[in-house]
Amino acid sequence: MELNTIERDDIGAAAEDLVVPPAATRKVFVKTYGCQMNVYDSQRMTDALATDGYAATDAIGEADLVLLNTCHIREKAAEKVYSELGRIRELKAERAKAGREMLVGVAGCVAQAEGAEIIRRSPAVDLVIGPQTYHRLPAVLAKARSGEKIVETDYAVEDKFEHLPQPKRAELIRRAVTAFLTVQEGCDKFCTFCVVPYTRGSEVSRPVAQIVAEAERLADAGVREVTLLGQNVNAWHGRGEDSEEWGLGRLLFRLAEIPGLARLRYTTSHPRDMDDELIAAHRDLPALMPYLHLPVQSGSDRILKAMNRRHMAKDYLTLIDRIRAARNDIALSGDFIVGFPGETEADFEATMQLVEDVNYASAFSFKYSPRPGTPGAEMNDQVPEAVKDERLQRLQALLLKQQQHFGASLVGKTIDTLIEKPGRQAGQKVGRSPWLQPVIVDEKAGEIGDIIRVRITKTGYNSLFAELA
Ligand code: 5AD
Ligand code: SF4
Repeated sequence: MELNTIERDDIGAAAEDLVVPPAATRKVFVKTYGCQMNVYDSQRMTDALATDGYAATDAIGEADLVLLNTCHIREKAAEKVYSELGRIRELKAERAKAGREMLVGVAGCVAQAEGAEIIRRSPAVDLVIGPQTYHRLPAVLAKARSGEKIVETDYAVEDKFEHLPQPKRAELIRRAVTAFLTVQEGCDKFCTFCVVPYTRGSEVSRPVAQIVAEAERLADAGVREVTLLGQNVNAWHGRGEDSEEWGLGRLLFRLAEIPGLARLRYTTSHPRDMDDELIAAHRDLPALMPYLHLPVQSGSDRILKAMNRRHMAKDYLTLIDRIRAARNDIALSGDFIVGFPGETEADFEATMQLVEDVNYASAFSFKYSPRPGTPGAEMNDQVPEAVKDERLQRLQALLLKQQQHFGASLVGKTIDTLIEKPGRQAGQKVGRSPWLQPVIVDEKAGEIGDIIRVRITKTGYNSLFAELA
């Protein structure tokens, strides 16, 4: 497929005058916005760039390539990118004065949604690359280095994941004992508030063999916990090793067989795709952590309909009952939007009631943000900002109370903790509870990668303190 090009503008000196460092000494600075899938994608891009001679750096000032992996989900997220590009423009000009080139790339969902508009608004940008074409990054960069401006937002016909290089084993070992693994990408649900179907495209599931191979590589390098990612992860399906059609439940059982992988998680799910086999996996699979992020967005049937969520509040509550019957210690998490067009006080009260009924262990809540190109943005009855603010405050106060209550309920209990990294304070290490809370322990409690039994002694704001049981 062709690369779209735009004429290069003159930031600082012309490209030919700048010192282009040879491969292997080039440095890339990657900044990630948004969701976990972007974190995963940034890692894969960094891996692809390593084979192209770029070493990762944390110091933006010394970067030959700055890559912003962006998020388009809410207006604020997208605006952050443009203000960052303003700062980068100055850095780039300073570097040019010193005779060094700094290429600037925008990847991710803003890249996909806005394409060439980004270069028009921020002329310091040299390349724009959408999420479906990351495997073409080295080719795109070669062109950009020769002075072309590139916009690469086509949906690739070839399988991106087949073409993205895997990191070396030694590199994987150096990384964390937890890892993300994208199994599904895109979304066909078209909730009326959401840009994802437009930025990430339609639903694609990665094949079983690819997923198993990647999970095995991770486990072989010492990874103990894998979180399967997808915008609609529980819609994942594929032909299994037995030639049967597998769903996510079956895939989880298969991954649990991999030696060394002690913990599995998945995110984010849609209530409509929680099938019996997946619920059974929560009952029968000890490796599947008792934590489920299951966004409902609203507790009002009228608003759920307007959002095109395709279920009612009571369907969600019934589903939660079935999941809790399968695994009674499961912690539930959700996403909420307040101030969707037409939301009345009564609709909002229905959301508060649903939150009371479910009792969440954690949750994320947002003010509705109209996104260009989505049906919600065109709807009448947009809710005033002040009303959104007030509702968000009330909802967040309730969710925070529930979260703290959940933490407090664990004090005195003995639980498993995966030790993940050194603590911020000397003498401490930080682990992770089955319910995703950070657990602070004495550094001598175990080594990174160990799963230890600890007794919870007290709670912090968002964390737990524990001692060896
Ligand atoms: N406005 C506010 N929140 C949104 N989300 C998605 N789109 C919007 C929007 N336009 C929230 C939803 C989703 C989470 C990832 O972000 O709650 O589950
Ligand atoms: Fe942001 Fe959604 Fe894209 Fe993730 S999928 S990067 S949250 S817009």
